[in-house]
Amino acid sequence: MPQEVRGVIARAKGEPVTVETIVVPDPGPGEAVVAIQACGVCHTDLHYREGGINDEFPFLLGHEAAGLVETVGDGVTDVAPGDFVILNWRAVCGSCRSCEKGKPQYCFATHNAEQKMTLTDGTELSPALGIGAFCEKTLVAAGQCTKVDPSAKPEVAGLLGCGVMAGLGAAMNTGGVGRGDSVAVFGCGGVGDAALEGARLAGASTIIAVDIDDQKLEWAKDFGATHTINSTKEDPVERIRELTDGNGVDVAIEAIGLPETYEQAFYARDLAGTVVLVGVPNPEMKIELPYIEIFGRGGALKSSWYGDCLPSRDFPMLIDLHLQGRLNLEGFVSETIAIDDVEEAFHKMERGEVLRSVVVI
Ligand SMILES: NC(=O)c1ccc[n+]([C@@H]2O[C@H](COP(=O)([O-])OP(=O)(O)OC[C@H]3O[C@@H](n4cnc5c(N)ncnc54)[C@H](O)[C@@H]3O)[C@@H](O)[C@H]2O)c1
Ligand SMILES: [Zn+2]
Ligand SMILES: [Zn+2]
Repeated sequence: MPQEVRGVIARAKGEPVTVETIVVPDPGPGEAVVAIQACGVCHTDLHYREGGINDEFPFLLGHEAAGLVETVGDGVTDVAPGDFVILNWRAVCGSCRSCEKGKPQYCFATHNAEQKMTLTDGTELSPALGIGAFCEKTLVAAGQCTKVDPSAKPEVAGLLGCGVMAGLGAAMNTGGVGRGDSVAVFGCGGVGDAALEGARLAGASTIIAVDIDDQKLEWAKDFGATHTINSTKEDPVERIRELTDGNGVDVAIEAIGLPETYEQAFYARDLAGTVVLVGVPNPEMKIELPYIEIFGRGGALKSSWYGDCLPSRDFPMLIDLHLQGRLNLEGFVSETIAIDDVEEAFHKMERGEVLRSVVVI
């Protein structure tokens, strides 16, 4: 029987979100219905609401979630009712050209549930990042459910489903940070702080946080920053050179999505160093760099999609490290809120007051 539950809907560009009744079908072949326990409010949800992703309104928002599998459809063997799972937006296909090359973390044909959730009048919903988890229950492809140790708290575990994984992976996977490396992270929101934490976990010895907000820089210290730079008060490139014997960092991570901070990252790295772009630029943005500098500095300019994570490999491992006290995830949870408070949480995010507001259901 299809179920009626409450969910957070963005009906039109720029309009405040509303909590409405949605209809969740029973899972079909390869699908699962998950009872959501917690879901973080990510900048991408706001981008959807603002029409910045596409025009397929109405959206069912929310995508950084953890919960319990309620029912599964035919052919589902990897997860079963009662499993504690983190939802992911990288259910790999196993047969695209990247999967066949043995690189499923870049899978070019990830999948979501085939059936649609709807409003009570039958209007089909577009779930954010193919998930839609600001709701009591959601329908996903079973491959979007990654089982992890159920002793982790849902409000903490769910964060690995998007922004925190993107930041951790930007340092650990894409940037390949290693023991003794120097790292600079530009932008200390949830994603940037996770990149700092990832650098710490990977054994970096100099970890430099750059932001324009002193409060964010203060919080960055809880995620491993050994030095902080307010780039409105001093030149970040010069200061990073000073902190690294005049050389620059091994890995520079841009976690904002602005051309000017990408340029800072580009010039703040050492010869043969790596720049990682994890911030998402707007389609209109352009960047101009001296061609000879791109050659002359060597190294690598990389982009990081979802931290180049493979959920089945990374989520259980990161939850284990968290449960052992080696990975600070609880520090990202600025507050827990009710499903009715998402609109207010967007405003707090815009004002820079929180790293993550997390809806608890
Ligand atoms: N690549 C991915 O897979 C992926 C996944 C999730 C999010 N993201 C992107 O990562 C970016 C960061 O997300 P977030 O949730 O941390 O956002 P956020 O808004 O919480 O954080 C951005 C931070 O950048 C700082 N900042 C702004 N302008 C700056 C400047 N000129 N110089 C230095 N610091 C500046 C802000 O003070 C803030 O602390 C966004 O672009 C988001 O879309 C990417
Ligand atoms: Zn694939
Ligand atoms: Zn997100």
